[in-house]
Amino acid sequence: MEKILVLDFGGQYDLLIARRVREQGVFAEIKSYNAITLDEIKKSGYKGMIFTGGPNSVYEKDSPRFDGGILNIGVPVLGICYGHQLIAFLAGGVIESAGSISEYGKTELCADPCALFENVPEKSVCWMSHTDYVSALPAGFRAIAQTRNCPCAAMADEKRRIFGVQFHPEVTHTEYGGRILRNFLFGVCGCKGDWKADDFIGRTVEKYKKELRGKRVLCALSGGVDSSVAAVLMHRAVGDGLTCVFVDHGLLRKNEGDEVEKVFRDMFNIKFIRVNAQERFLSRLKGVSAPEQKRRIIGEEFIRVFEDESRALGKTDYLVQGTIYPDVVESGKGDASTIKSHHNVGGLPSVMDFEGIAEPLRELFKDEVRAVGIKLGIPEALVMRQPFPGPGLTVRIIGEITEEKADTLREADAIFREELEKAGIRPSQYFAVLTDTQSVGVMGDARTYGHTVALRAVSTDDFMTADWTRIPYEVLEAASRRITNEVKTINRVVYDITSKPPATVEWE
Ligand code: XMP
Repeated sequence: MEKILVLDFGGQYDLLIARRVREQGVFAEIKSYNAITLDEIKKSGYKGMIFTGGPNSVYEKDSPRFDGGILNIGVPVLGICYGHQLIAFLAGGVIESAGSISEYGKTELCADPCALFENVPEKSVCWMSHTDYVSALPAGFRAIAQTRNCPCAAMADEKRRIFGVQFHPEVTHTEYGGRILRNFLFGVCGCKGDWKADDFIGRTVEKYKKELRGKRVLCALSGGVDSSVAAVLMHRAVGDGLTCVFVDHGLLRKNEGDEVEKVFRDMFNIKFIRVNAQERFLSRLKGVSAPEQKRRIIGEEFIRVFEDESRALGKTDYLVQGTIYPDVVESGKGDASTIKSHHNVGGLPSVMDFEGIAEPLRELFKDEVRAVGIKLGIPEALVMRQPFPGPGLTVRIIGEITEEKADTLREADAIFREELEKAGIRPSQYFAVLTDTQSVGVMGDARTYGHTVALRAVSTDDFMTADWTRIPYEVLEAASRRITNEVKTINRVVYDITSKPPATVEWE
């Protein structure tokens, strides 16, 4: 399979770059610059490499660097922003601070004819965000684009197939960004673009048929899109060797446990065990308010429950999890700072009773998981449903978790979802959060002192960034009225109007 390496130097856009590459049907793999060696790169057979941006200046003492030999292994390179400057630095050019003429935002680009700019007009708009620039080109390179303030907005050493762009082709603000990436992938690297959901299914099923032949496999099924797709995929590979265990941790949405049970038992003929572990989780979460600690507890307890189940089942060799690519990256690797430890990755204890863990979706983005799910014949209603985090309502109840709070939130959340569905509004994700604020209200003639619930709805393609959804006032009003009327302890409803960043989708 043809692969592109996205070598990450600490930029914010590494995932976006990988997505853009995969949208072209080419598989992209992100590695932090300090998580792979030159030798490993040489052996991996990459068709091309993209060096990402990053917040540093190349001359800083601790700035991320790489062995300069990388430019001489015959694999084409595209450097973006910091990656562009790093190429110049490694090849002997000079980088300087642009000072007052540093560029930020949409900027006019003048591009010269070359392989990277095939079918890109001479003048177009690009997205700039830099304070340093390449002031003297290294030997063998020529400038192939300029902006008003940046004489080397792009450079090329065509003989070695090495290119650098100071701007960001991966963001949609760069008018011809997609074309520039395509030119690199197909024109420069010679990729064919043959990465498809069908291939993925075939390849993955074959791989696990071989690796897990005769093994007993347990799948951690949450009923969400990811673990459902992982389960059906694994079922194709190991058939009855697979048992799905669905843990009801008491922090699921209203009726969710029953719905999941029905789908998996009736529709897919997969061995299915439902574990009612509400008490176990709630007692471990008792008195805990810190978000990361709650996440860790949930993650650990999940594994413990599976271990217990697997013991009860007799020997089980492998555990399947629905981890997807953004979970892996956002949980913190290399220099990327940890935003949240996703329960299905960060919470894994190092000592396990299982021989190993299989994560068949580990390299896929959400939309790719959905495409695979549809191809596998999973009903669209399940595949397209909004994501629900593994830790469940844990990350939507601020402060200590109690059964009463979980019940309260479940009711409010169900009403909000019902009202949106009734109005035909389908944000990418929508739910209620139980805040730890209590406030004074009035009901009838009496003073109340009740909980505040926050409603959250976001629109996004990839969940890496998100905008808050503009829900019509009358729909918000209907939800607020019903929640305060129907849920006894809630007397105030607010709507969260923050995007990601600076907020995240979930509150914890
Ligand atoms: P944040 O809050 O990080 O959420 O902006 C981005 C997306 O990830 C989901 N999410 C999780 N999913 N385990 C999961 O499986 C987790 O621990 C977890 N935390 C957040 C969140 O619901 C949103 O869709």
